[in-house]
Amino acid sequence: MTVREEIEQLKKEKDAVILAHYYVRPEVQEIADYTGDSFYLSRKAVGLKEQTIVFCGVSFMGESTKVLNPDKTVLMPDASADCAMAHMADPETIQKMRAEYDDLAVVCYINSTAELKCCSDVCVTSSNAVQIVRALPNRNIFFIPDRNLGRYVAQMVPEKQVIVNDGYCPVHEKMSAEEILDQKKLHPQALVLAHPECPETVCGISDYIGSTAGIIRYVQESSKEEFIVCTESGIQYELKKRCPDKKFYFARTEPLCMDMKTITLEKILHVLKTGENEILLGDSVREKAAGPLERMLELA
Ligand code: 13P
Ligand code: SF4
Repeated sequence: MTVREEIEQLKKEKDAVILAHYYVRPEVQEIADYTGDSFYLSRKAVGLKEQTIVFCGVSFMGESTKVLNPDKTVLMPDASADCAMAHMADPETIQKMRAEYDDLAVVCYINSTAELKCCSDVCVTSSNAVQIVRALPNRNIFFIPDRNLGRYVAQMVPEKQVIVNDGYCPVHEKMSAEEILDQKKLHPQALVLAHPECPETVCGISDYIGSTAGIIRYVQESSKEEFIVCTESGIQYELKKRCPDKKFYFARTEPLCMDMKTITLEKILHVLKTGENEILLGDSVREKAAGPLERMLELA
């Protein structure tokens, strides 16, 4: 039996379903039951009939899935797959901000630890952050942990005062406007599409800014043929699948999230066999983190 066939068989035996983010390896996206961006996956995870969820993504994604589905078993193919940005804020600063500002909402990008979600009022993803911040009754917003998505939200919702925490995604932060402009010289007809985790210099020269799902939708609906894509290059698998005749270019320094890439078919098979790497959260953390996540699902 091939690894893929073994996974299929074990999925049935263990009543398991596989979710995968667009940044994981193509062969993992290929075998997943559901593939999507962070928002799609967190929504999809609620109400699945299977008892076990194998989450092919980084730890904050598995944690959020467990928080929203406390009775399910959530398995991570690689327990070390983590998101550096998820740790780039701290409860002390949040407390300080709450003391300093009246009428403050702490808005937490889903790319954050469960501990940070516990200190927040609402979670957002890159596909709903603008919509949710706009809908909040509060005048002041403390946006954690990503300074780039926070800045983008501040620009899109000028009626609010958005105070931005100083975190960033190391993969998107490395993208340079210079490299994108080099690609633009080589492919002058191409549109530039950027994830809001990119620095301002990159967003500033983009034709479209949106989440990974937003970028895919934009490409599908566009009459254009060529695109310079400013996000992690794993997105290419879905772009090619949906639009095989269109052309996609990335920055010369390929944007790769090595944590996402640690997930392999062999590791999926291993956790299905052994039940290792289960996400376990204490009741108090789980209950506190559920509020902001559920509020996101209600507002988005
Ligand atoms: P989205 O899935 O919201 O596009 O975010 C990308 C990301 O960085 C996930 O880690
Ligand atoms: Fe975190 Fe960036 Fe990797 Fe997404 S791409 S998981 S934000 S490090």
